[in-house]
Amino acid sequence: MNKSSSAGRLPRAKGIDMATCYMPKECARKVRHLVLPTVNQKIVEEFITILGMRETFEEHGVPIPNKIVMYGPPGTGKTLTAFHLAKMLELPLILVRLDALIHSHLGETGSNIRKIFEYAKQSPCVLFLDEFDAIARTRESGDEVKEMARAVNTLLQCLDDFGDNSIFVAATNLEKDLDRAIWRRFDTKMTYSLPDNESREQYIKLLIGEFGQEEGLAELACQRLTGCSFADIEQIILKAKRKAIIAGLPLCWQHVSVSYDEYNPAVQ
Ligand SMILES: Nc1ncnc2c1ncn2[C@@H]1O[C@H](COP(=O)(O)OP(=O)(O)OP(=O)(O)O)[C@@H](O)[C@H]1O
Ligand SMILES: [Mg+2]
Repeated sequence: MNKSSSAGRLPRAKGIDMATCYMPKECARKVRHLVLPTVNQKIVEEFITILGMRETFEEHGVPIPNKIVMYGPPGTGKTLTAFHLAKMLELPLILVRLDALIHSHLGETGSNIRKIFEYAKQSPCVLFLDEFDAIARTRESGDEVKEMARAVNTLLQCLDDFGDNSIFVAATNLEKDLDRAIWRRFDTKMTYSLPDNESREQYIKLLIGEFGQEEGLAELACQRLTGCSFADIEQIILKAKRKAIIAGLPLCWQHVSVSYDEYNPAVQ
């Protein structure tokens, strides 16, 4: 298990080198701003509230949710939400490296999946599988090799045996490709999309912060950046800030406009 700089308090699992562990403080540093649509905000808040009321839910015999799948286009905050959850729940985040998990040797992928789930069960954590479609693809698709079908079966077993000590979070851009049986295992589903006008403006204002003094700059930028993902918006505003610093000027519309053209986002 690779440990990131401030990590190191989790027990070491023998032979696992497929994941990086981020301690809650580190997760907090990664999530400076998170702009979520109201519906997702509510889902996250309720999830955290429920986990804070474990005993009460046990008394009522109602199981707590602990398996989340997040899906939607790139750069819309799925990975960021996983870090936010770990921060809020004060749990370490175990980020699985899929390239290490998926193995060309027969049976190895399944045994890797088992190892990582066993590891995550040892002590409370957020187990995060990004680009989840890479291992949870539907078993029906004709070009799938048997090895991957076996891996999906293993994954199903692991999800069923996961218990409720830890949280399982998966993210994907390709939710339609996910195996339906896997899909059914999730108790919490969150859809992500490109920012609407309101979220875009909110995010741009957060990013500009004290930098811009030009009247109406955020509103103008908001119009220009229509169709951009949060990740694109961040890159464009950072580029514009750099230009402002080089010029020794406050951030202005010209910096944003030129940065947009230079960055040339794939607007959807
Ligand atoms: N909803 C958001 N609120 C604030 N910042 C965001 C949001 N979405 C994306 N960002 C910015 O873009 C970066 C990339 O976002 P993130 O990694 O969460 O995207 P993703 O949805 O996981 O994308 P992918 O599908 O490519 O993995 C973040 O580190 C953050 O700086
Ligand atoms: Mg991601």
